Amino acid sequence: MTVTTPEEAQAAQWSGADAVCVQGIEAGGHQGTHRDDPQNDGAGIGLLSLITQVRETVQLPIVAAGGLMRGAQIAAVLALGAEAAQLGTAFLVCPESGANVLHKQAMTNPLFVRTELTRAFSGRPPAAW
Ligand SMILES: Cc1cc2nc3c(=O)[nH]c(=O)nc-3n(C[C@H](O)[C@H](O)[C@H](O)COP(=O)(O)O)c2cc1C
Repeated sequence: MTVTTPEEAQAAQWSGADAVCVQGIEAGGHQGTHRDDPQNDGAGIGLLSLITQVRETVQLPIVAAGGLMRGAQIAAVLALGAEAAQLGTAFLVCPESGANVLHKQAMTNPLFVRTELTRAFSGRPPAAW
């Protein structure tokens, strides 16, 4: 189950989850938050802090997600107690990715250095960094 706070991790454990995907605010795509509060869009917890808090809250295996692009970052989340790392955005520009060409070009174009939160696609709070 995806969690974005220690409280959500606790709820996942209580509900019988086998593992938690700990999703920091850096994560691309939708945020798997349990609460949907428009007032709090973008107010999430950074991945490194979140792993530490979740590790102290539940005994479940942790899959770390959010802004991981380099091997050293993966080593860092494993050192913090995660069992595995999940990457999403890093693969969007791969040939196998179904992202449209314009999107792929924008992701590697240095002219586009900012991202914004939007509810345009799903109505749910995403996080883009
Ligand atoms: C195109 C795209 C769509 C995504 N859709 C979802 C989704 O529907 N539900 C969800 O919980 N996470 C979704 N994610 C988030 C991923 O599960 C993962 O947490 C995230 O990609 C990790 O952060 P990163 O993109 O910075 O590597 C999506 C990510 C991307 C890039």
